[in-house]
Amino acid sequence: FMIKRPLIIDCDPGTDDAQCIMMLNACGLFDIRGITPVHGNVPLEFTSKNALFLSKYYGINRPVYKGAEERLIVRLPRAEYVHGSNGLGGFEYDLNGLNFADGKAWDFLYGEAVKQKGQLELVAIGPLTNIAITIMKHPDFPKLIKKFVIMGGARTAGNATPLAEFNIYQDPHAAEIVFKAGFEDFTVVDLQCCMTAYLTKEEEEKLGATPKNNSLCGLMHQVVRHRQENLRKLKGTKYNDLAEQEGKKMVFCDAAAAAVMIDPTISKYQDYYMMCETRGDKTFGQTVIDRLGFAGTTNIHLALGVDRDRFRQLYFDCLKKYEV
Ligand code: RIB
Ligand code: CA
Repeated sequence: FMIKRPLIIDCDPGTDDAQCIMMLNACGLFDIRGITPVHGNVPLEFTSKNALFLSKYYGINRPVYKGAEERLIVRLPRAEYVHGSNGLGGFEYDLNGLNFADGKAWDFLYGEAVKQKGQLELVAIGPLTNIAITIMKHPDFPKLIKKFVIMGGARTAGNATPLAEFNIYQDPHAAEIVFKAGFEDFTVVDLQCCMTAYLTKEEEEKLGATPKNNSLCGLMHQVVRHRQENLRKLKGTKYNDLAEQEGKKMVFCDAAAAAVMIDPTISKYQDYYMMCETRGDKTFGQTVIDRLGFAGTTNIHLALGVDRDRFRQLYFDCLKKYEV
């Protein structure tokens, strides 16, 4: 008999967030204490409803505490173009009277960290606004977190700008607070790591044909259909080549963070001191790695890249758990 590890998932669902939550729930290692949605891919109104829906749809049935509607300081466009206007690739669902838990994400995050007496683990796969607010309200929060994994940052090229990855770019001031907060065991799954955790075209088609006896087949069919539609729309535009590339490999960024949390041996790591640029007009939102050790210390373990075969195996093993 294995004690399930207490975990909170902070997220901005998000079609790839949905894959990450699916995996963290299916792997059986975690007692998901709650989900804390944040603004991000789409406004909080949608990320929070999606989190509430997924908690029910996946059979997690744990409380969902709403977090921040806006970034601490900046105001930027979001990513409806990737995730669809409702954030789940247009997948339609009815909340059937489901309600959010009373209270704010940051008070739940801290309250649960105190209750779990330093054993609470945390995965954050959206902008870091909720985590930063928790730290500002409760400065001892980082010391109460046993293991912290984020999907965020980019060691080279970004996806929101040439240098910034979307989660960090959406709230660089929050990211700077989080990097400086002193989490003891802090793993960063950055964009370049996520790119190694891809599914091939054939595997994407397999996902798009998830059998009817799988309770998630509706969502998975829609996620693949939506992605294919998006890529078709880009054909012949200035993004044509990008669409060609993306068509060959389906990357669910947040699923890489789930894989690293579930099986840390799936990746290798390098400790660095990581910072976030909050001022440059070309570098705004860039995660800066101190490779020469000027900082004299390190604050994160950078996940360098996952074993793709093990990732694929883990992903489909988790999905299979939803067959009835
Ligand atoms: O850059 C990818 C990240 O931004 C993912 O977490 C995706 O869901 C979006 O939030
Ligand atoms: Ca996300």
